[in-house]
Amino acid sequence: MSLILGIETSCDETAAAIVDATMQVRSNVVASQHELHERYSGVVPELASRAHLERLVPVVQSALEEASLGWDDLDAVAVGHAPGLIGSLLVGVSAAKALAWSLGIDLIGVHHVLAHLHAAELNAEPVPLPAIGLVASGGHTHVYHFDEHWRGTLLASTIDDAIGEAFDKAGTMLRAGYPGGPAVEAMAQSGDPLSHELPIGRPKVGGFSFSGLKTALLYALRGQPRRLDGKTVFPRELDDVDTSTRQDLAASFQRAAVRGLRRGLEAAVAGAQNLQCLVAGGGVISNEAVRAMLESVASEASIDLRLPDRACCVDNAAMIAASGHIERRAGRLSDLHLQASARAAIG
Ligand code: KG4
Ligand code: ZN
Repeated sequence: MSLILGIETSCDETAAAIVDATMQVRSNVVASQHELHERYSGVVPELASRAHLERLVPVVQSALEEASLGWDDLDAVAVGHAPGLIGSLLVGVSAAKALAWSLGIDLIGVHHVLAHLHAAELNAEPVPLPAIGLVASGGHTHVYHFDEHWRGTLLASTIDDAIGEAFDKAGTMLRAGYPGGPAVEAMAQSGDPLSHELPIGRPKVGGFSFSGLKTALLYALRGQPRRLDGKTVFPRELDDVDTSTRQDLAASFQRAAVRGLRRGLEAAVAGAQNLQCLVAGGGVISNEAVRAMLESVASEASIDLRLPDRACCVDNAAMIAASGHIERRAGRLSDLHLQASARAAIG
């Protein structure tokens, strides 16, 4: 039974996991750096790469221990090599190359965004293809068409902020906590989603837009700004807003963001032919309101819906190992020339 070690260091999660050829997760270890970046309300690249360096070896060792396996049991090492923060990616790619070379096993460079969708095969059957794939994370709001061989074509993307980025900024404005996505979702549970009518992004060119929604939330919190002596002045400070208004705004923001996601997704799905499935991944797909919306879209289109478990939506290395199996079966292996790359398109 072939075993792949996955390594993920593209952003602020240092992760290692082992997945077998039937896509069963043997171990899945994630060392989050949230505590390091919280005071800056965002990921600081220099701090992230340094933390990856310190944490990667113990994290890989924990993944082996958790699976009760040794180095010699591994058949291949897969690593997320693009896209992401370049300094962070370099740590994972260098470690993966060193392991593949010293153990004499295969090396597979994996696309992080594609891996978010391959995560839907973890502990599950293969995703029926052709499919529409939605990736909604801190850096991506992208819809792809995938053919029978998981070869993707981009159909739509955001024209400004990624949806996760909008959740993160909303989290800061609402004083909800860090990272913003899960904190806004938790806050929204106590609020009324119909209390405020926030705008849904409708880009003329199709796809998604979340930056207008973010500005509308700011104005709803602080009031309409006016210009005074060349400066923008708001009637209220963020700290002046009471808890129940914040909860209502969190719920209204989430409703508008989910509706914006639905609108762009449906437009992309409508034009696709011969679809078997809707598959989605990325941190925002762990949101229950987003998952419910996806169920409704898939059932209206009479296609299967495949979502990773909530825990496998946010960055992890099991999805990298899963992607490694899919790429290796297709004969797409890397060699020691594999490069880390901050940007890379699918397809
Ligand atoms: O996939 P991921 O872990 O990293 C990237 O590749 O970006 O996604 C992280 C993003 C963050 O913006 C985070 O706030 C968002 O996913 N997120 C959520 C939820 N959990 C994570 N957004 C909304 N609701 C959630 N429950
Ligand atoms: Zn990600």
